[in-house]
Amino acid sequence: MDLAVARSPQSLFLRELVAQPASVGAICASSPRLAARMAALVGAHPSGLVVELGGGTGVITAALLAHGVPPHRLVVVEQSAALAEHLRRRFPDVCVMQGDAAELTDWHAAGRLPAGQDGLPQPIHTIVSGLPLLSIPAPVRQRILHAGAQALAPQGRLVQFTYALRGASPWQASGLVRQHSERVLANLPPARIDVLGH
Ligand SMILES: C[S@@+](CC[C@H](N)C(=O)[O-])C[C@H]1O[C@@H](n2cnc3c(N)ncnc32)[C@H](O)[C@@H]1O
Repeated sequence: MDLAVARSPQSLFLRELVAQPASVGAICASSPRLAARMAALVGAHPSGLVVELGGGTGVITAALLAHGVPPHRLVVVEQSAALAEHLRRRFPDVCVMQGDAAELTDWHAAGRLPAGQDGLPQPIHTIVSGLPLLSIPAPVRQRILHAGAQALAPQGRLVQFTYALRGASPWQASGLVRQHSERVLANLPPARIDVLGH
């Protein structure tokens, strides 16, 4: 990666957008306002893992840390190798998994996510998703929805943003129930945040 791109997260984001438009699914990273609302909707997180799907350049990751999520309980999943490398450099104390979000259940079952202080696997109490579910091909989307709903702990909470201001959340097709919805107009384009649970 050349130095100019390494120094500018926005250049990196645009480069990935040109290379994989459906996978990135946005013209720019989320606004600070959207990231802050996503983090606020995580609520209290006394135990277990917080897993962010589709970390991008780390705007929401930074908001989660600023909100008080401890870095050792935060896992960020990012498919793009270049973005995953950027995230590892930017957040050295956070576990960054490079790969497909559909692998979440397998990684969890295989003990590849951070263990608790007792050495045991930790439940995933929160999933925060910036995945562009509507532009991801249907078969891949189905696997992601299945994995996310399976991995989420029984009392867990899933927070997803979308640019579709109306309609059901794709997560509802996986059996999750929408508990809250709000719009964030201070974003390009304006977005909706859905909070879901079992
Ligand atoms: C709309 S961007 C959001 C980035 C960042 N969270 C933000 O809000 O600015 C979507 C991100 O999801 C990643 N992504 C897309 N499909 C993925 C998948 N199947 N597994 C993991 N990450 C994926 C893309 O590479 C991209 O970084």
